[in-house]
Amino acid sequence: MAVAAVVALTVLWSKHTKGSAVPTSSLTSAHHGDPRCVDVMLPVSVTSQNAVYDIVQIDTSIDAIAYALDMDSRSAPSIEERILRNITVSDTYNIAAKLCISRNGGKKNHLQIATHGGVFDSRYWDARINPEEHSWVHNALAAGYSILTYDRLGNGNSDKPDPYQVNQIPLALEILRGITKIAREGHLMKYASPGSKQSKAQFDRIIHVGHSLGSAISLGMVTTYGNESDGAVLTGWTTTYQSTGGKTTTFDLQLASENDPKLFGDFPNGYAVPSTASAIQTGFFSTRRNHTVGIGGFTPELLEYGNSIKSPIGAAELLSATRLNLGLAPDFSGPIQFVLAEYDWLVCDGDCKGTTNMTLLEQLYPKATDINVYTQPGTGHGLPLHRGANIGFKASFDWLDRNGL
Ligand SMILES: *[C@@H]1O[C@H](CO)[C@@H](O)[C@H](O)[C@H]1NC(C)=O
Ligand SMILES: *[C@@H]1O[C@H](CO)[C@@H](O)[C@H](O)[C@H]1NC(C)=O
Ligand SMILES: *[C@@H]1O[C@H](CO)[C@@H](O)[C@H](O)[C@H]1NC(C)=O
Ligand SMILES: *[C@@H]1O[C@H](CO)[C@@H](O)[C@H](O)[C@H]1NC(C)=O
Repeated sequence: MAVAAVVALTVLWSKHTKGSAVPTSSLTSAHHGDPRCVDVMLPVSVTSQNAVYDIVQIDTSIDAIAYALDMDSRSAPSIEERILRNITVSDTYNIAAKLCISRNGGKKNHLQIATHGGVFDSRYWDARINPEEHSWVHNALAAGYSILTYDRLGNGNSDKPDPYQVNQIPLALEILRGITKIAREGHLMKYASPGSKQSKAQFDRIIHVGHSLGSAISLGMVTTYGNESDGAVLTGWTTTYQSTGGKTTTFDLQLASENDPKLFGDFPNGYAVPSTASAIQTGFFSTRRNHTVGIGGFTPELLEYGNSIKSPIGAAELLSATRLNLGLAPDFSGPIQFVLAEYDWLVCDGDCKGTTNMTLLEQLYPKATDINVYTQPGTGHGLPLHRGANIGFKASFDWLDRNGL
């Protein structure tokens, strides 16, 4: 079976299965001078069951295409067949995050922890192009939530370890769990950059928010550590449809350091990135060219912006996602929302309408207090980068509010 489906990022409901760090350069401020926000560098200690996979090594951009074709080939081995051996990885990783604390009373003790997906970093959540319309962070703060966004391992200012054996998705789940624990225990400010003004970061509700592969990781919290999550908003993700359209080749990958030595020079071999804005369009923008006006459209500027904030992905990230339990969540007793983009290529083969199976969702989340599916009209996989994105953000915040979060 081709690994294609993994890249569609939705394989997994049917299965119901279940290095050492490179020191990071000094903190670069990601909070744009917003006095509500501070940069934090979190040391997260984790142990993870990883695997050594039989995949094509990526040392050049020619290798990157060979890697993708090998994943998508008709006669490719199954993911299980690619496992050469299981390994345990145990280490402490530096995770670069931005903590923004709301000042609007009500929900400031409710912390959203937002996990970005593949080929982006934490900037995905905080678009600098008309933030009122396109920044989830801006809108979350306006709705009264506090929010932590972070660069996943192998991204942005976080450590970029070995992309073959270390940077795998089961490890990413353990990191999210570790971040959640630090937040719940009120310790985030211990790791703030010197001189930070925030004094208190005490949170009594933790909401896990994800996009795409980041939704899979957040769903791992729901299935595996269900009592450690008070609620989940999973965007660009469905557990009831298995797409075939999104494949590894869809991303038109190049070796990151060859694609842009200035931006990606610090990424080791084995990290790859979509080649051009056109590759970003295929994966992340609406499949129906819907011009600028009206909800769901996108402008050339939004596409260029999306391309400007792309970020590499490690060679073993996508296929190792199959090791997460993305099925039954026996312990999760909060509300869970899926946010679909109507015209999503990667997840829904270009059209998410009619892909939801509520019966199945009710079986997967038997103790959930509410299961909700919201579809953002006209929009592609990269939801914030389309017109009227704020309408979708509000749908999530209103739904959280109705559920006491
Ligand atoms: C690796 O671990 C998985 C899950 O525990 C197991 O199913 C699989 O057989 C193991 N593979 C090898 C090669 O040891
Ligand atoms: C979740 O349950 C485990 C095992 O019962 C317990 O050790 C842990 O403290 C619980 N965590 C939370 C956040 O309630
Ligand atoms: C929805 O899920 C249920 C439970 O798994 C299954 O029995 C049913 O066939 C599914 N419906 C469709 C239309 O696929
Ligand atoms: C864009 O798509 C949305 C949702 O399908 C639709 O409501 C809107 O009218 C479309 N806009 C244009 C200009 O086609």
